[in-house]
Amino acid sequence: MDGEAVPSCVTPLATLDGRKVTTVEGLGTAEAPGVVQQAFIQEQAAQCGYCIPGMIARAEALLRADPRPTEAMMRSALQPSLCRCGTHMRILRAVRRAAVAMGGGIVDPAEPVS
Ligand code: FES
Repeated sequence: MDGEAVPSCVTPLATLDGRKVTTVEGLGTAEAPGVVQQAFIQEQAAQCGYCIPGMIARAEALLRADPRPTEAMMRSALQPSLCRCGTHMRILRAVRRAAVAMGGGIVDPAEPVS
C-alpha cells in the first residue's frame, strides 16, 4: 500500500480509500515476471506457495526503498511472513538475487549470490 508492505489479512478495506494498492499480481505476469518474481523462480523458492505472495511483496517493498539493504534488514523485512514449508534459505537467496538484479545487492550477504 503506497509502496509499503502491509498484511492484507488485517488491513481493513476502509483504510485503502485513496491509497495505491499493488498486489503480487501487479508485479509481473507468468510470461513476463517481475525481477523479484523471476528471482524466486530461479531459486525455486516456493514449495506449496502459500507464503510466496507476501514474501515477494515484502521483498519488493524492501528493495524499492533500499536496493542495498543489509542482511539484517532483509531478514527483518521478511520476518512477519511465515513459511510453513521451511523454504526460508531459498527465499533469502531469491531476495539476494533480486537485489543484485535490481542494481544493488545485500551489503553483507550471509551467502554469495551465484
Ligand atoms: Fe509453503 Fe512457504 S512455500 S508456506
